Parts: sequence; structure tokens; C-alpha cells
Amino acid sequence: MADKIKLALVGCGGIALTHVKGYQNLLERGYDTMQIAAVCDTNDESALNVANQIENNFGHRPNVYSTAEEMLDHEEIDAADICLPHAYHHSGAIPCIERGVHVMVEKPVGITVRATKKMMAAAEKSGAMIAGAEQIRRCMGARVIEWAINEAKMIGTPRFFTMEVFGVTPFNWSEYKMAWRGVRLLGGGGQILDGGAHFTDMMLHVFGPVDEVVCDMRTFEDPELDAPGLGKRHVDVEDYWTSTLRFESGLVGHWSWSRLGFRHDVTSGVYYGDQGSFKDKQKWMHAFQFGADLKLKDGTDVPYEEIERQYLDQLDADEKERLFPFGLSDGVSNECWDFVEAVAHGRQPEIDAATALKAKSLCFALYEAATSGEPVKVADVEEGTVDAYQRPINEHWDL
Ligand SMILES: NC(=O)c1ccc[n+]([C@@H]2O[C@H](COP(=O)([O-])OP(=O)(O)OC[C@H]3O[C@@H](n4cnc5c(N)ncnc54)[C@H](O)[C@@H]3O)[C@@H](O)[C@H]2O)c1
Repeated sequence: MADKIKLALVGCGGIALTHVKGYQNLLERGYDTMQIAAVCDTNDESALNVANQIENNFGHRPNVYSTAEEMLDHEEIDAADICLPHAYHHSGAIPCIERGVHVMVEKPVGITVRATKKMMAAAEKSGAMIAGAEQIRRCMGARVIEWAINEAKMIGTPRFFTMEVFGVTPFNWSEYKMAWRGVRLLGGGGQILDGGAHFTDMMLHVFGPVDEVVCDMRTFEDPELDAPGLGKRHVDVEDYWTSTLRFESGLVGHWSWSRLGFRHDVTSGVYYGDQGSFKDKQKWMHAFQFGADLKLKDGTDVPYEEIERQYLDQLDADEKERLFPFGLSDGVSNECWDFVEAVAHGRQPEIDAATALKAKSLCFALYEAATSGEPVKVADVEEGTVDAYQRPINEHWDL
């Protein structure tokens, strides 16, 4: 082919390494449409670590920079994969977008609803594309169960679900990757937004729009931490919530989580319809990542593996290749492929900024409902007319 897509990685922490593995999976299968030409991280060690990995595994060393701006001053790149803490999604992505560089932004695509809209406005102006890096719905298990519920109608009409995770998840607030996750000004929120963005994306994808939510949220433990760029702060993100999601379809969902559920663990993701129910096989908020087992009202039990077989049997070869390129069924490899293909062919990505905005608006609807103590319409949060929780964050970042 002609010149390869020149790609930059912006942010070289935990998820960037997973993306590198995704690109590597593609390369190992002969997909060499792109080349990782540059990496950026304000932490030199992280940038060099990723550059070394790329050199070792791809046979080409990317140029190393501190920030997106510095890189853009020196490189002609086509696309940037933004793997930054939530607070810097917009400030990392917008300089790229303004230069016409297409971006894939990790979930939740901006720290607040306004941050996402600011990126979208920049893209509207420059013509650059924004893809959302959201891997869960692209995993085999999630594609199978979405089909089983919506196409094969295996549980009939969905009526209600419960997703509850209570147990102990120790967070080491002294690590950089947790310190920014501990304060709203850097993370936007806690796990409702962080892990929760995957859950809300899947719920909207499988069950359609949510009309209204109610939510109670607590921060039971608020140790002091060293917040990057902010200094000493107390943890102010939720360590417990319970919520009700009222879907436009009439489906009602109960979603609760705490990382402070000492000694007795509860993990239940069960989705009930008028013909039976699916029990999720995963233990976090990555709904259906590993599929779900079906139990029907008539007493029949159908293991996930059988449903996956039925799903794959009804896909034609072209669909299989589109949904699982090169036979890859992990969501990260697939999102990397989808992004590069979208850039190469000037097509829309599977998940665009508008889709990501919907998933994060649902997350923020929970925060807004917990803040007001009232039910909140998700459309009002997406519209921006309900924003009391997000306002201090928007003011801090001048959004
Ligand atoms: N899809 C998933 O399953 C998944 C999993 C983990 C994280 N994430 C998302 O990925 C993003 C990053 O999370 P992470 O866990 O990799 O965080 P991290 O803290 O491990 O890495 C972030 C990196 O960005 C660098 N950085 C910070 N500010 C910068 C700037 N202005 N310019 C350049 N580099 C800068 C940091 O030095 C750090 O190396 C977040 O949006 C997060 O929600 C997604």
C-alpha cells in the first residue's frame, strides 16, 4: 500500500501498554497499515518504556516527546491514540484535532460532558474524526449476548436487571495511576465513571436509551493523597453507590457497587426477561465481556458456549471478518484495528464521540442524581441543563 498511517500514542501508562499489545496482535497477523511513529508522556520513564517495547516488538523506534503539543510541533502524524488521565483528554486531544489529526480517546472521552462537547466542536471545525476507545462491546462475549438478547430474543422481553458488586478492592492512592483517580478534579468521579463507563455503554448498546436515574452515593473513607498537579487532597470520589436506571423501553435496572464490602463478597449481574434470564460471567463492570449463561422459564439451561456457537454459525464470512478481524476476539485489538481502518478509509469508527457522550452522560446522570437527591433525566445531563456535580470540574478546567 501507499504510506502507512503515522500514529502517535499520547500517554504511556497502563492502558497504553494494552493498546500497544493490540497493535502488536494486528501486526503479527500481517496488518501493517500503521506505524507507531511517536509516543508522548510527561513521565520520561513511561515514555521510554513504551518506546523500548515498540522498538523491540515492531522493529521500529518511535520518536519520544513529553506532550502532544511538543510532538505536533515536530511530527507530521495522521492519528493519535489518547491514553491520558480523564482531566487531560481534552487538552491532549484538541491540539491534535485542530491540526486535522484523527484521534481515538480512551473512555470516558473527556472528564465531563462539556469536555466531550469541546472535543466534538473542535472536530466539527477541523474535520478530524474522534473514535471512542471502548473495548467491552467489541469482545466476543459482549457481541454474542447483544445478539442473543436483541436478535435471537433469548430472554424474551427484557424486564429488569441487577448488577451488584460488593467486596474489597484495595486502591493504593500513593501510585500515580490511582492518585488522579481519587479526586474529582482529575478523574471526574470514581468508579461510576471509570469502570462504570464500560457498563453504561453496554447497557445503552444492549437495552437502548435510559430515561431517568436515581442514585445514592457515599465516600465512606477519604484518606489524604498527593493529587498530581493539585497537591494534598482528600479522596472525594465515591466508594459506594446504589442506583436505579429507568429505561425508555420500560426495563428497570438496579446497579450498585462498593469496594469497601468487607468479608462477604456479592457479585451478581443478572438480566431478566419474560422468558428467562442471563447471568453474566464477569465479576467487574465489564458487562458480558465473557458472555453469560442462559436459564429459560421452561427449565432449560443453555451454557454460554452453546450460545456463542449459535451466534457464530449465523454470521457470514464478511461479518465475521468485520467483527473479529484476523480472528481476534479481544476488544482492544479490535478497537485498534477499527480506528486505523476508519482513518485509512475515511469511514466512521464503530464507536464515535456521540456514542461515547451518551455512555458518559448516563454516568454523570448518576452523579447529578446523587448530588440533587432527585431523579434526573439523562437527556438533561447530555444537554447540559443539569450539571451541579460537574460545575466545579468544568470551572477548574475552564470548560
Ligand atoms: N479500556 C479500559 O479497560 C481501560 C483500562 C484502564 C484505563 N483506561 C482509561 O485509559 C486512560 C488512562 O488510564 P491509565 O490507567 O492508563 O492511566 P495511567 O495513570 O496509568 O497513565 C496515564 C499516563 O499519562 C501520562 N500523562 C499525564 N498527563 C500527561 C500529559 N499532559 N501529556 C502526556 N502524558 C501525560 C502519565 O504520566 C501516565 O504515564 C483513562 O481514560 C482511563 O479511563 C481504560
